[in-house]
Amino acid sequence: MKKVLIAYVSRTGKTEKIAESIAEGIRISGNEAELKKTSDIKSPEELAGYDGYVFGCPTYHRDMIAGMKTFLFLAEQANLVGKMGGAFGSHTHSGESAPMIFDTMQFVFKMDMVDLGALNLKEAVVGTDDGLRAGQDYGKAVCEKFTN
Ligand SMILES: Cc1cc2nc3c(=O)[nH]c(=O)nc-3n(C[C@H](O)[C@H](O)[C@H](O)COP(=O)(O)O)c2cc1C
Repeated sequence: MKKVLIAYVSRTGKTEKIAESIAEGIRISGNEAELKKTSDIKSPEELAGYDGYVFGCPTYHRDMIAGMKTFLFLAEQANLVGKMGGAFGSHTHSGESAPMIFDTMQFVFKMDMVDLGALNLKEAVVGTDDGLRAGQDYGKAVCEKFTN
C-alpha cells in the first residue's frame, strides 16, 4: 500500500471538496490518502514519508493564493525529485492555479507527474456527481503510476 499526501488551500471549500474526492479515489485503489491544509504543514520534514503528493489551490485574481506560494517554497526544501505528483484546483473561468502548481512540481521539483495533467474543475461542477467522479478518477490515475 502506497501513501499519498494531499495538501491544499481552499477559501470557501470548493477545492477542499475536490481534495476529498481525490482521497476517495486513492482509497478505492487500495492506497492510503492523508489530507492536510497547507497552513498546517510547518516544516519540510513533515513532507517526508509519502510515496506521492497531490497539491491543490483555487484561482483568485488569475493566480494561486498566497498560502500555496508559501507552501511551494517549503516543498522546495523537501527534495521531492522522482516522487509521484498531481495537482488540482477549482475556478470559475480562467483557472491558472492548478496548471501552475503542476508545472512547478514537474519542472522545478522534478517530480514524476500523472499523465492526465492537472485536474482543473469549474466550481459549478464541484459537488455534483460528475465532479465527484472526476476527483475519484484523478485519485485512481495517480495510483496507477505506482504500478506502471
Ligand atoms: C475575488 C475573486 C476573484 C476570483 N478570481 C478568479 C480568477 O481570476 N479566475 C478564475 O477562474 N476564478 C476566479 N475566482 C473564482 C474562484 O476560483 C472559485 O470561486 C473557486 O471555486 C473558489 O475555490 P475555493 O472554494 O476552494 O476557495 C475568483 C473568485 C473571487 C471571489
